[in-house]
Amino acid sequence: MQRDYFMNQFVNNYTEKGFGIIRGVDTSSIVNSVQEFLACNDLSNIHKKVGRDEINEVRLSLSKSLSTSEVREKILTLVEEQMISLIGPEIAVQKNINVTFHIPQIDNNITPLHSDVLCGNSPYEVVVWIPLCETKKTQSMYLFDRETTFEILSSFNKLKCRRKVLEEFKDRKHYLELNVGDILIFSPTLIHGSSINSEDISRISLNLRFKSLHSPFHLKKLNDYFVEIRKLPQTIMAEEYESRL
Ligand SMILES: [Fe+2]
Repeated sequence: MQRDYFMNQFVNNYTEKGFGIIRGVDTSSIVNSVQEFLACNDLSNIHKKVGRDEINEVRLSLSKSLSTSEVREKILTLVEEQMISLIGPEIAVQKNINVTFHIPQIDNNITPLHSDVLCGNSPYEVVVWIPLCETKKTQSMYLFDRETTFEILSSFNKLKCRRKVLEEFKDRKHYLELNVGDILIFSPTLIHGSSINSEDISRISLNLRFKSLHSPFHLKKLNDYFVEIRKLPQTIMAEEYESRL
């Protein structure tokens, strides 16, 4: 009963704002495997361990090592109740797990204001964003809620450039403060981004997307960008029937 209450609260909050945060999730096995891969116990100090010119190569090799069916399965089990409530029980998952290193004081390390849908993702997806260390202020990322996103999108024609948009909406720009064990779940329609990291610590975070197996895939196709991860018996039987005739 209490579980239903919290799940209803999560869904209501998500529907209103376009995002929700679940707290106290056991992400330790993922954090431990990344610490082991990077030979670094304090991931917020990764910039002291890996040189600036090596960061991108290390990030890509970490992404490759994490992009396995075991890790995708592990992440889904952490958020499965929320996913079933938002997109249903038959689920496709992004094949490659994205890794972000947000290193202090590097001006080419920012993610400009954007929404994933504006960059070619389908609005039927849900983004799961997992911090592997504490995130705060400019070391984190900012996210505008649904209503503000609509206002920003309709102001683009008038304001023309991202810098002016950020200036106009600066009072509603909040950096997400998250701890290890928190998971952010958000709609790919929301406007978000990151600034130059002016703190003295790095951020390492993961993100990947889930969607209903039966929703439109648009540019990011099944068996390419996405793979199946949950399929129910009638779908399996229907596919077998169609393939045998
Ligand atoms: Fe994004």
